[in-house]
Amino acid sequence: MFENLKPQPADKILALMQMYRDDPRQDKVDLGVGVYKNAEGVTPVMRAVKAAEHRIWEAQTTKAYTGLAGDPAYADAMIDLILGSSVERDKIAAVATPGGTGAIRQGFELIRMASPEARVFVSDPTWPNHVSILKYLGMESVAYRYFDPETRAVDFDGMMADLKEARPGDVVLLHGCCHNPTGANLNLSQWQAVADLVNERGLIPMIDIAYQGFGDGLDEDAAGARLVASSVPECLIAASCSKNFGIYRERTGLLMALSQQPDAQALNQKTLAFLNRQNYSFPPDHGARVVTTILTDEALRTDWARELEDVRLAMLDLRQQLAGELQRLTGSDRFGFIAEHRGMFSLLGTTPELVERMRVEHGIYMVGDSRLNIAGLNAQSVPILAKAIVDAGV
Ligand SMILES: Cc1ncc(COP(=O)(O)O)c(C=O)c1O
Repeated sequence: MFENLKPQPADKILALMQMYRDDPRQDKVDLGVGVYKNAEGVTPVMRAVKAAEHRIWEAQTTKAYTGLAGDPAYADAMIDLILGSSVERDKIAAVATPGGTGAIRQGFELIRMASPEARVFVSDPTWPNHVSILKYLGMESVAYRYFDPETRAVDFDGMMADLKEARPGDVVLLHGCCHNPTGANLNLSQWQAVADLVNERGLIPMIDIAYQGFGDGLDEDAAGARLVASSVPECLIAASCSKNFGIYRERTGLLMALSQQPDAQALNQKTLAFLNRQNYSFPPDHGARVVTTILTDEALRTDWARELEDVRLAMLDLRQQLAGELQRLTGSDRFGFIAEHRGMFSLLGTTPELVERMRVEHGIYMVGDSRLNIAGLNAQSVPILAKAIVDAGV
């Protein structure tokens, strides 16, 4: 049987990580993989996470199974974090999932089950896993314009024009904040226009929110999701705790299915639990318990929010340093978009050839589509990157 297997495409980011490790240069700069790193290049365990783990270690008396949907207290805490009071709790079905990726996968499966003909509209570009999971599930994806290569901002007219081609029942996948890979995001009036279009055309929004707190602040980053969720009849939200709690390897996510139909919640909840059962049975609990412990304890929550805010401000500062250095070197504001983008990433919007040239000549490692992980920078590497960008003629 195994002789029938064919090699699957290698994950480009993981391949890049290996090349970086093999590069002997001292001043090489890793801007590839999507994890937050502090100025020392470390992805730290957050203070509140350590404290919550300590509490759990002391208080936990069993590792018996939780429910198929995970601990309901986790869903409540996450719904409150993401949606605040924008949607009534009894309109929302929610299950814990292995990471945000698990939530996306379960969300897609739910769509396929409920509406096999639905196509999923994805931004061009988007996080590559969106497209590859859809393909793996045999679902059709359609790209909508998103990134303007000239301004490096959202091509909103193009986006709206493409979404107008969607048929009723099609799904529109939106990044809740801190768009990956571009760093270019919708403003609130654009979110409103998308919500209006979704309602006019009978589309279903699915929001992937993986970086809440990394852009403009915890509430600000959820404002688009709240606006959409409170103004459409049905919506899916896939959330990840990997980045904003720094618990990447704990695999902590949540999938929500929202419906304004009075009797939909119970069936949605049962269906989500069924999907968990089919795919991995009970979702991981440790990360979810850490998150719940933090979000339901005032002191831990305050400390977590403070540390997250420091992370956010550190990335903003790096953006400003890089944009400033590029302005100094080029005497122009061509790279001002780097300071305008939000989240961990910015798409430089250049060719794979120039990305390769920066790697070979300057030891700069970024993904071939020219995505920079801003958090991979520090005060020493900002000038190295700026010089590489200018030398390569980006
Ligand atoms: C846009 C987006 N969605 C979802 C995820 C999922 O993250 P995880 O499965 O690690 O929680 C990521 C991670 O890189 C992401 O960038």
